[in-house]
Amino acid sequence: SLKINTGILTTPIALSEKKRRKKKRRREERIKVVIGGDPNYRKLEQWYKSSAGNLNMRQMFGADPDRSNKLSLQMTTDDGDILLDYSKNLINEEVMRMLFDMVRSTILLNVSLKPKHTSVLTQMLSYICMRSGEWKGFSGKAITDVVNVGIGGSDLGPLMVTEALKPYSKGGPNVWFVSNIDGTHMAKTLAQLNAETTLFIIASKTFTTQETITNAETAKEWFLQAAKDTSTVAKHFVALSTNAPKVKDFGIDTNNMFEFWDWVGGRYSLWSAIGLSIALHIGFDNFEQLLAGAHWMDNHFRSAPLEQNAPVILALLGVWYVNFFQAETHALLPYDQYMHRFAAYFQQGDMESNGKYITKSGTRVNYHTGPIVWGEPGTNGQHAFYQLIHQGTRLIPADFLIPAQSQHPIRDNLHHKILMANFLAQTEALMRGKTPEEAKKELQGSGLSGDALEKLLPHKVFEGNKPSNSIIFKKLTPFMLGAFVAMYEHKIFVQGVMWDINSYDQWGVELGKQLAKKIEPELQDDAEVHSHDSSTNGLISFFKKNQIQKPPRTP
Ligand code: F6P
Repeated sequence: SLKINTGILTTPIALSEKKRRKKKRRREERIKVVIGGDPNYRKLEQWYKSSAGNLNMRQMFGADPDRSNKLSLQMTTDDGDILLDYSKNLINEEVMRMLFDMVRSTILLNVSLKPKHTSVLTQMLSYICMRSGEWKGFSGKAITDVVNVGIGGSDLGPLMVTEALKPYSKGGPNVWFVSNIDGTHMAKTLAQLNAETTLFIIASKTFTTQETITNAETAKEWFLQAAKDTSTVAKHFVALSTNAPKVKDFGIDTNNMFEFWDWVGGRYSLWSAIGLSIALHIGFDNFEQLLAGAHWMDNHFRSAPLEQNAPVILALLGVWYVNFFQAETHALLPYDQYMHRFAAYFQQGDMESNGKYITKSGTRVNYHTGPIVWGEPGTNGQHAFYQLIHQGTRLIPADFLIPAQSQHPIRDNLHHKILMANFLAQTEALMRGKTPEEAKKELQGSGLSGDALEKLLPHKVFEGNKPSNSIIFKKLTPFMLGAFVAMYEHKIFVQGVMWDINSYDQWGVELGKQLAKKIEPELQDDAEVHSHDSSTNGLISFFKKNQIQKPPRTP
């Protein structure tokens, strides 16, 4: 059984003074119950207050040439090494010791391993024949295109993985992803497809998600315009779901339904039948490699000591920044174009899991929980938002990821060396910054002096001391990607335990869905709507006046 932590106490989130006073007594009582007994937290809090201001990475690197060895972790997987260098963080060994003590007292690692093989995987295997063209559509032509219709966890994982593993897709069908209820997404996709050679995978755990079901119905309508005969639907529509009755209602034969289980959270489901589009695109062997990589990381997480446990280390560093430094966001910056949806994937993974202010026992937290997760691949991000990471007013911890080997070592690997140089330069620049003396010298060197120099100088100074993790690995293979996805999943789990929240529900998405259901019928006619606040009423009124598309003018 899992020993659930009590949560950690941090500087309370600012509330209005009145509310704050009103709640103070209740909170103090609760704190006594929740974390009062955790001396490790108290110790770290004391340390933070008295000494964190003295943490200067440039100085710490200068004083200890062995710092990166002490604060890094090399993992040897079955498919190449991973180096997690976390030495460019606002930490020293004492802080890490206290963080480990804190997690030791709160969590017992008990992980269920990703399945190596299940009956569903066998069922998936039977569809892989599609890759060799054996699976024929209603007119006898082979399937060439697969459209995954799903949203959230039933979209982002397969989308991210099929993009990341494009180099492994040879021989497989093209994959398309339609998620948005915006008609543009479906219309633009269908415009590029031929019904005779297209398979639709309707991916929805619940099979009740409005966007997915509407998109699926649109797809079916489009398909039947070409195929005419409803009996051909079986050859062109399959479902990935836990809800057999709804799948049947939709018109998909439950023999063409790949089951998964209710306890598989949507955002953790790419390992299950939800991964069908991945398996079709990259082949079953590669899909198994993806699972094997995740399995490797599961084992690592379960068995490595806390001090050498990658997900635990990443989780603790996150807690250190969120709860002590009050960092609001966390950037994921893969230096690999194929990983361009990685941050988007973990926006759901992390924010839907840990973006919560209610604890497992139903009380409101008085500390921050999950950060805002964001990011873009390097080097594009450098030319967009890195300005703020370097010289903005907020602390933005960031994970930099890069493979040592490029999938495309073009021009004698020139591109990859430049990419690598940028990766290294950014993490070094964030850590070291540039002192006023250094900046001045540089400006003088370029011939500037006097007023002009003094005016420009403050802009040329970089405070530095900005934290980052560097994650370098051999190559972006299916195995390696599986390992990274699992690594971040476990990081999220550890943080959820430390924050005493349930990382596996998502009640926060319900209210918007409820209201949308109420509003939709109100948009069906021209009648004025007064049932909402004045803002919402006004927006509805504007929509109604402007929604009618005028026919194009005839010349
Ligand atoms: O609305 C959020 C959510 O429930 C996610 O958690 C989930 O991944 C997504 O919707 C899609 O759900 P389903 O797979 O049931 O269609």
